[in-house]
Amino acid sequence: MKNNNQHINKCPIGIFDSGLGGLSICKEIISTLPNESIIYLADSVNTPYGEKNKEEIIALSIKNTEFLLALGCKIIVVACNTATTNAIAVLREKYNIPFIGIEPAIKPAALQTRSGKIGVLATKGTLSSDLFISNSNLLRKQLEIIEVEGANLVRLIENGQLEETKPLLKQYLIPMIEQGVDNIVLGCTHYPFLIPIIRELIPNHVTIIDSGKAVAKQTLAVLSEKKMLNKNGQENSTTYYTNNSVELLKAFLKRVELEEGAIIFKEF
Ligand code: DGL
Repeated sequence: MKNNNQHINKCPIGIFDSGLGGLSICKEIISTLPNESIIYLADSVNTPYGEKNKEEIIALSIKNTEFLLALGCKIIVVACNTATTNAIAVLREKYNIPFIGIEPAIKPAALQTRSGKIGVLATKGTLSSDLFISNSNLLRKQLEIIEVEGANLVRLIENGQLEETKPLLKQYLIPMIEQGVDNIVLGCTHYPFLIPIIRELIPNHVTIIDSGKAVAKQTLAVLSEKKMLNKNGQENSTTYYTNNSVELLKAFLKRVELEEGAIIFKEF
């Protein structure tokens, strides 16, 4: 049967974050969906979203969505826990395309924990969102959730200063370990880039949970269900937009071993 969606199928997947964090999701999407074109939007000028209020986060998420829609994206991945937990309901209401979001993976952690205690490291904006509060309250009946705001981590990551996060990570994670958590949920897409450093700080029996792969799988599932997959990827491309330094983005892509693609500076 002929697919009426043929021109839509070739359209790119749009991904946005407050900056470079969503590249952890982008990397998973590129490896799960190699035939797709990708447009990644790093709103680094406005980072960190985690310290902004709900209205500001919604306004920035709308701005990013409009930018990606103007470039013809067929689906948008909100590769930011802070934007998802504060704004995805508004985006879904306002725009008639599929949105994939990411929130701290506390449910998988709840299923896995043996100690009955899990830790969540996330931004203030995520931890204080109604969505996170209601989801975490549902689980609190059966387990203890220790939440810590990862203050200042995003700023350092945006500057490429990954090693400099170590003292802060120590300060945030060691108390969780001392309280007996056996699963630590990384509730911000910037944090997976810190996993090698985190691993050095915490005992081996503690599992680090990051939902990048789950988001990529969900993107595949939604595109497949809607028959919007690009079956032949001959003309696919990856383009990164930033409203901050192209050099920083370039260096970061190299550091996290992501294919470079086209990098475009644009004020947005
Ligand atoms: N990477 C984002 C997240 O997943 C936002 C970080 C920030 O800008 O504060 O929450």
